[in-house]
Amino acid sequence: MGRFRFITAGESHGKGLVAVIEGLVAGLPLTEEYIALHLRRRQAGYGRSARMQLEDDRAEIISGVRHGLTIGSPISLLICNRVWQEWQETMSILPTNKEVELITSPRPGHADLAGMIKYGMGDIRPILERASARETAARVAIGAVARRFLEEFGIDVHSHTISIGDHRAKQGAAADWQRVEKSPVRCANAEAESAMMKAIDVAKAEGDTLGGIFELVVTGVPIGLGSHVQWDRRLDGQIAQAVMSIPAVKGVEIGAGFALADIKGSQAHDIIEPKLKRTDALWRRATNRAGGIEGGISNGQPIVVRAAVKPIVTLRKPLPSVDLRSGKATAAHYERSDICVVPAAGVIGEAMLAIVLADAMLDKFGGDSLKETLTNYRSYIKSIPS
Ligand SMILES: Cc1cc2nc3c(=O)[nH]c(=O)nc-3n(C[C@H](O)[C@H](O)[C@H](O)COP(=O)(O)O)c2cc1C
Repeated sequence: MGRFRFITAGESHGKGLVAVIEGLVAGLPLTEEYIALHLRRRQAGYGRSARMQLEDDRAEIISGVRHGLTIGSPISLLICNRVWQEWQETMSILPTNKEVELITSPRPGHADLAGMIKYGMGDIRPILERASARETAARVAIGAVARRFLEEFGIDVHSHTISIGDHRAKQGAAADWQRVEKSPVRCANAEAESAMMKAIDVAKAEGDTLGGIFELVVTGVPIGLGSHVQWDRRLDGQIAQAVMSIPAVKGVEIGAGFALADIKGSQAHDIIEPKLKRTDALWRRATNRAGGIEGGISNGQPIVVRAAVKPIVTLRKPLPSVDLRSGKATAAHYERSDICVVPAAGVIGEAMLAIVLADAMLDKFGGDSLKETLTNYRSYIKSIPS
C-alpha cells in the first residue's frame, strides 16, 4: 500500500467494526447510502447464514467528509454489530466474574489451533472472533470509498460466480452485469445458477458446505498502472496479495492464469492489432489472456482476476478434532455458519481490487484534490501517442 492506506479493527461479535482510510483526495462526493449499497451486496447471496438477515450493515462516516465531499483528512467508518446486545457478556470488554464457556476443540481449516498456540490463549473464542470473515464488511466499506474514486475516471469493477462446487457457468460471452446483480448466486448463466442453488440446498441438508470460483472484471483501466521496475510495484503482485488476503481464498489467477502453463507461446499471448482510427486511445488486442496486465503494468485491456474459494470450514456435521484440555478425540466446534460464500467473496474481491487500483491511480496521477488528480489523468491520456 502506498498512498491509499487503511486499517480495520473489530471482532465478529464485538461492539462493531472500525475502518480508517488515509491518503484519499479532497473533493470526492461520498455518502453513507453509497457505501450501504455495497454492504448490502456483500450480505446477499444464496447460502449465507441467518446472521446476514439480522445484520443489515450500515457504515457511519465519522470523519473525513464535510457537506458530502471528502476533505483530504483520514476517513473513518463505524459499522455497529447488531448482535452485540446478545454477546455483551461473552465479549465483555471489562473483566467479568461470570462463567464464560471456553471453546477448546479447534476446527481444522480455521485459525483456531495455530492462533490459540501463537497468542498463548486457553480459549479459541478470541482467535475466531477476529479470524472471522465478519471483518470483510469493513473492507467492503473501504472498497466502496475506493470505487467511488475510480468511478470519477470511468473505471468499473464487477464480479460474478464462475462455479460453485463442480457446477460451472458456461464461459464465453461477456457477463450481463444486470443479470449478475439479480442472481442469488451472482451467476451470469441461468442454467448454472439453478444447478448451483440446488447444490447449496443439498450441501445444507447434508450438514456440508461448498466452495467455488469467482471472477473479477475491471473496465476503463488506463495503460500504465503499476510498474515493471520493482517487485512490490508490480500491479499483478499487488492484486494477488489483496485477493489472496480474503478469508477462504486459496488460489488467484490473472487472465488465463494456470491454463497458460498448458499451451505454447504462439497461442498464449495477445496479438497487438493496428488501430482502426489513428486517434483511438487504445491499441486493440485480439485476445486478453494476460488479463489486462503485462510486465506488472496495466495495458488498457480489462483486468480479469479469478479466485478459488475453499468450502466453509465450520460444518453442522463437524470434522473430528481434539479437546485441547483433555487431549481426547472430540468433534470440532460448531456455531452458526454459512454454507457457501462464493457470491459474497466476489463482492469482497471487488472491494480489494478497487483498493489496489485506487492506490495505483493515486500513485500514477497524484494530487491532493480530485480536480488536480483528474487534470493529471487527462493530460496523461492526451499524451499517449496515437
Ligand atoms: C464472506 C465470507 C463468509 C465466511 N463465513 C464463514 C462461516 O460462516 N463459517 C466459517 O467457518 N468460515 C467462514 N468463512 C471462511 C473463514 O473465514 C476462513 O476459512 C477462515 O478464517 C480460515 O482462513 P483461510 O481459509 O483463509 O485459511 C467465510 C469467508 C468469507 C469470505
